[in-house]
Amino acid sequence: MEAKRSPNAPIAVLDSGVGGIGVLREVKRQLPHEHLLYFGDSANAPYGERSRRELITLIDAHAKRLLSKCKALVLACNTATAVAADRLRARYPTTPIIGMEPALKPALAVTPHPRVLVLATETTLREEKFRALSVRFSTATVLPVPAPGLVRLVEAGLADSAESETYLRQLLAPFADPAPDAAVLGCTHFPFAKGAIRRVLGDAIPLFDGAAGTAGELARRLSAAGLLRPVASPGTVTLTSSDQAALPLYRRLWTQPRNTT
Ligand code: DGL
Repeated sequence: MEAKRSPNAPIAVLDSGVGGIGVLREVKRQLPHEHLLYFGDSANAPYGERSRRELITLIDAHAKRLLSKCKALVLACNTATAVAADRLRARYPTTPIIGMEPALKPALAVTPHPRVLVLATETTLREEKFRALSVRFSTATVLPVPAPGLVRLVEAGLADSAESETYLRQLLAPFADPAPDAAVLGCTHFPFAKGAIRRVLGDAIPLFDGAAGTAGELARRLSAAGLLRPVASPGTVTLTSSDQAALPLYRRLWTQPRNTT
């Protein structure tokens, strides 16, 4: 079954948990008139520690439910994109389905042959999509850094905490010398831990993530499909989760000032 094709229908934004809320903010900033329906699967997070088969089952079911009432789907999750974006696009060929991949391209603007840390989930880093991305941007030396502990800390509301800092110090110690030229936050949970990441890496190393690019791509796809909401009043934002107990954290991260992330 295809998605609801009405320009007035909401846009679904899906992540394993709270990470996609950073993407949701960018979507709200770039498309303020759209109705947005966020779903975080916190009951099943972290996705990065689940098998491919489990992820496909979960994401297929969420996509089916969300697309019965939404006109487009944003996979605000690098892991879900790596595993399920292609199959969802095959299943819903006329529906805009926007995925995310680690933002390597902007890191190439820093210097022509950068050494780039890519922090992401194990699943993202082991999937074919990431291998293809590294080949596409082969002038960069990519240093993959799986950071499963950071997903758990962010889901626990400890994104910018002493615990995150300790975890990151240990994780990133092997990459301190020579210092990398840039770091890509290839998991949507990680921008919420930018404070701790900066304290460990220092302010001189630029950090990149894919939220703004994803929202921009969504805007282009909706426009091309004639699906932009034609009403100039502000859209609504609805936050939902498979774990009701996680909703207060979703609301906190949604309303927290941007400059803290
Ligand atoms: N936020 C997700 C991503 O961008 C996954 C985090 C997880 O649940 O492991 O990859």
